[in-house]
Amino acid sequence: MIERTIEEYAEEHSTPEDEVLFDLNRKTHLKVLRPKMLSGHLQGKFLQMISEMIQPQHILEVGTYTGYATICLARGLKSGGKITTIEKNPELETMIREYIRKAGLEESVDLKMGDAITILKQTDQLFDLAFIDADKENYLSYYSLIKDKIRKGGYIIVDNVLWYGKVVNESESRDPDTIAIKAFNDYVQEDNEVENLMLPFRDGLSVIRKKV
Ligand SMILES: C[S@@+](CC[C@H](N)C(=O)[O-])C[C@H]1O[C@@H](n2cnc3c(N)ncnc32)[C@H](O)[C@@H]1O
Repeated sequence: MIERTIEEYAEEHSTPEDEVLFDLNRKTHLKVLRPKMLSGHLQGKFLQMISEMIQPQHILEVGTYTGYATICLARGLKSGGKITTIEKNPELETMIREYIRKAGLEESVDLKMGDAITILKQTDQLFDLAFIDADKENYLSYYSLIKDKIRKGGYIIVDNVLWYGKVVNESESRDPDTIAIKAFNDYVQEDNEVENLMLPFRDGLSVIRKKV
């Protein structure tokens, strides 16, 4: 975890959020439970830039929350491209749709409400980029389901892989989320079909590339 003062300095030296993202960030903090789940300024900008570099035709996001990362990722889509984003909490749907509309991205976003495992099993779309950011206990299941749906040379980005530093803290070894994230990190490290980079940025982001 980066110290808050360092993070603030980094934010002050990065392009600011535009009006839509600033407003979404603020409204999420005012009105929605667990606002720390939102990607936020730095991670959002990072995801946007990665997406702009890849210029994907199809993106998958698991765990929409209020749509902050959805908007950032969608901004890198190739013209005519689509992001499929999956969220199981029905209370968030109105807000997600409101901000997708405010961002002018209605044509680019396919929001699917429901359980991600069920929806992924029914999806035969191939993706260029995926962002896994939902319940930690299912990380390995998401990875296994998504890897087959990522084209060769495509990327999977995974959030919270350091889980507030708990992955290196022995006293957290009984916490189910920590156990799941550690198992996931170890599995990826042993997976010869991918190249992987764990970034100690925010709560830890893994960038995983399916080998060609
Ligand atoms: C950390 S938040 C996502 C944050 C968002 N990607 C962002 O960057 O702003 C995780 C979200 O995953 C959703 N979620 C958890 N389990 C899920 C499941 N099985 N299927 C679909 N969504 C799920 C939660 O309701 C929550 O909104």
